[in-house]
Amino acid sequence: MSSTNPASGLPATSTTKNNAIWVRETRFGRWFLSTQTWYRYVLSQAVIDFKTLLGERVPTQGHILDAGCGQGLAFGLLEQHFQPATITGIDIDAEQVKKAVSAASQLTTPALAVHTNASASNLTAGSFDLILCHQLLHHTSQQQETLQEFYRLLRPGGILLVGESCRSFINSAPVRLLFRHPEMAQKDARGYIDLVRTNGFVFSETDIQTSRPWWSRRCLGMAQKLGIGLNNTEPTEILIVATKPH
Ligand SMILES: C[S@@+](CC[C@H](N)C(=O)[O-])C[C@H]1O[C@@H](n2cnc3c(N)ncnc32)[C@H](O)[C@@H]1O
Repeated sequence: MSSTNPASGLPATSTTKNNAIWVRETRFGRWFLSTQTWYRYVLSQAVIDFKTLLGERVPTQGHILDAGCGQGLAFGLLEQHFQPATITGIDIDAEQVKKAVSAASQLTTPALAVHTNASASNLTAGSFDLILCHQLLHHTSQQQETLQEFYRLLRPGGILLVGESCRSFINSAPVRLLFRHPEMAQKDARGYIDLVRTNGFVFSETDIQTSRPWWSRRCLGMAQKLGIGLNNTEPTEILIVATKPH
């Protein structure tokens, strides 16, 4: 099953970067998100790392929500690694949703893609076992509302996977030049941990992974190879496996 929600009434795009619900990614950014570099080194790696963090908690035959699914690149990975009963993708960008509808139709798992705002969807409360939120939060100023919505959508005991790029990376010169994000919405790793925890989710230190992958380092890691910036250990990426308590 594949469908969009044409009656969502969402803003086509935002005109300001300050406190915007949504700032449309640049043309370059939208292209980059469709590359093998993104798919292989960022998205696939995140799903594999989430699976490792989950350990024996990996749900099978669950109902999965991919929040901020973009063009649905994660659908196949979710199908492969989690064998879900259903996959639902949501995104605020109608153009991306069209591509996600097509990606959903390629799966053997029943899947659909819906045009809606992750912070105020019309999806049914408690209807998901697992939510993947990969690289969405730094794109919205409504982070608090988005976490509350995830809490509403998960069943008790359901799992939220948050994968984010931290402020130090998003505010770096190349990223600012090539991509577009709402101002002031990005957090450091501790900020994302606090955001998820203060919205009712539980997790321990072993449910968190921070890293500085090569693609997020100055000059793609060349600075480190040349001995420049060796002391910088601030994480650029964070993964959190959080649970909605029973
Ligand atoms: C960096 S992309 C990540 C796409 C996908 N999760 C991936 O990892 O390939 C961020 C996505 O979040 C979407 N997005 C931003 N704000 C949103 C919101 N409030 N509700 C739903 N989607 C949103 C954007 O349209 C974009 O497709």
